[in-house]
Amino acid sequence: MGIISYVNEEIQVIRERDPAIKSNMEVFLYSSFKAILHYRIAHKLYLKKHYFLARWVSQRAVRKTGIEIHPGATIGKGLFIDHGSGVIIGETAELGDNITLYQGVTLGGTGKEQGKRHPTLRDNVMVSAGAKVLGSFTIGENSKIGAGSVVLEEVPPNCTVVGVPGRVVKMNDEKIPRLDMDQVHLPDPISNDIRELQADNIRMHRQIQEMEKRMQCLKENPIPEEKEEENAKNEDF
Ligand SMILES: CC(C)(COP(=O)(O)OP(=O)(O)OC[C@H]1O[C@@H](n2cnc3c(N)ncnc32)[C@H](O)[C@@H]1OP(=O)(O)O)[C@@H](O)C(=O)NCCC(=O)NCCS
Repeated sequence: MGIISYVNEEIQVIRERDPAIKSNMEVFLYSSFKAILHYRIAHKLYLKKHYFLARWVSQRAVRKTGIEIHPGATIGKGLFIDHGSGVIIGETAELGDNITLYQGVTLGGTGKEQGKRHPTLRDNVMVSAGAKVLGSFTIGENSKIGAGSVVLEEVPPNCTVVGVPGRVVKMNDEKIPRLDMDQVHLPDPISNDIRELQADNIRMHRQIQEMEKRMQCLKENPIPEEKEEENAKNEDF
């Protein structure tokens, strides 16, 4: 892509996504514009295995913009990095088309993986200010990551993820109910045991009363010996 078509595309992207822009000339003042222009040059050098030169170009961009895009990262069309400071995109990150990143976003690794260790963001993903997406999983298309979230696992398409660690709170515009966790009325195993013992106690008390009644009955109306023998025989059969 020639420089003119790149500039035109950037003007369009920034005008679409930043309501603060007033004229096309302002595009040249955007960190996003400078960082992505440097990245496109550095990435070409990286693909030709000019690794030192590639890093040199990308480090110049870091000094100018505070945005560090590793030259090895793969980035589609229409990336917009609003404000920019503190954005880091790792070497094996893959970004689809029309991605939006805000300041302080890290698309990084956990330090536990080798090879592909940075996330893949599908088309139209938005990662809000300060969010950290760490690991080699995928964020599905059209998903949004809330400000300050730390996302450590795969996110399906069309979801909103918030919190630390990140959890899906919306999918296809429908809210996902939070698991009800009553932190005050937690089950108490000791009082449960005591309640079971009390119930056993009551049952045993009733059985004893029943047996006492029968004994009393037998005392008052003793069974004649013959009948007792007959009963015993019947029981034998
Ligand atoms: C995540 C975000 C994009 C909203 O996405 P959305 O799909 O419209 O989600 P909603 O606003 O409906 O919020 C869904 C739930 O997540 C909660 N939530 C939203 N953003 C959150 C965040 N960053 N952290 C924690 N919870 C958050 C909401 O309170 C809501 O909770 P509830 O269901 O208990 O009411 C937005 O909240 C956000 O973080 N924007 C930041 C954009 C940014 O970086 N701006 C910087 C400009 S300089």
